[in-house]
Amino acid sequence: MIKLPKPSIVINFKVYEEAEGAKALNITKMCAAVSKDSGVAIAVCPPAPELGIIARSIKIPVLAQNADPFPAGASTGWMTPSVIKGAGAFGTLINHTEHKSTDDTISKAIKMCGELNLLTIVCADSVEAAVRIAKFRPDIIAVEPPELIGGNVSVTDADPYIVKNTVTSVKKESRDISVLCGAGIKTGKDVKAALELGADGVLLASGIIRADDPKGALLDLIQYL
Ligand code: G3P
Repeated sequence: MIKLPKPSIVINFKVYEEAEGAKALNITKMCAAVSKDSGVAIAVCPPAPELGIIARSIKIPVLAQNADPFPAGASTGWMTPSVIKGAGAFGTLINHTEHKSTDDTISKAIKMCGELNLLTIVCADSVEAAVRIAKFRPDIIAVEPPELIGGNVSVTDADPYIVKNTVTSVKKESRDISVLCGAGIKTGKDVKAALELGADGVLLASGIIRADDPKGALLDLIQYL
């Protein structure tokens, strides 16, 4: 099992315009500085084309947004575990609700990433999905109700039970798997609520990437940690 220090803040840049090209490196530099000053663990998931340059130049954990379980060799356009490793990344997201995979693909990707010592954060859109995915033994499961993603209402307010129940159910399966929650998380109060519900951290995107002042938003986010 690979671990992220807890509580973990994982920021998915998605393919937002605000994180295209050199902007992704600048946001990551800001995250690294905030992490260093505060001592809070912050990991980032930049867009694929920026993965290598960021992972090789910044010290905080850098993750891919997806992993396709193919071996190195003659296949084109896939984000393979060995390409992710070669880029210098720390790990990868898998099965984000905006990039869904089958159970077979998820389990193969977890296995291949594990063999390369890459951290796996697998997204689940329900408690049931989280329990199913837990059997594949990822390092982390991130529960995110799809309908709340990108909105202004935090999962911790709109659906605290999904967070609590995912934590309880996943920990029953394996105490080694960490649980994050995500969707609509934007403030320090949301992060505090997530931890009180038993989560080990949060996975978020728009609250930082689309904020008018990303650094101010990040400082607000970690204020109670
Ligand atoms: O990957 C994180 C994400 O799906 C949550 O997005 O914008 O609601 O923080 P957001």
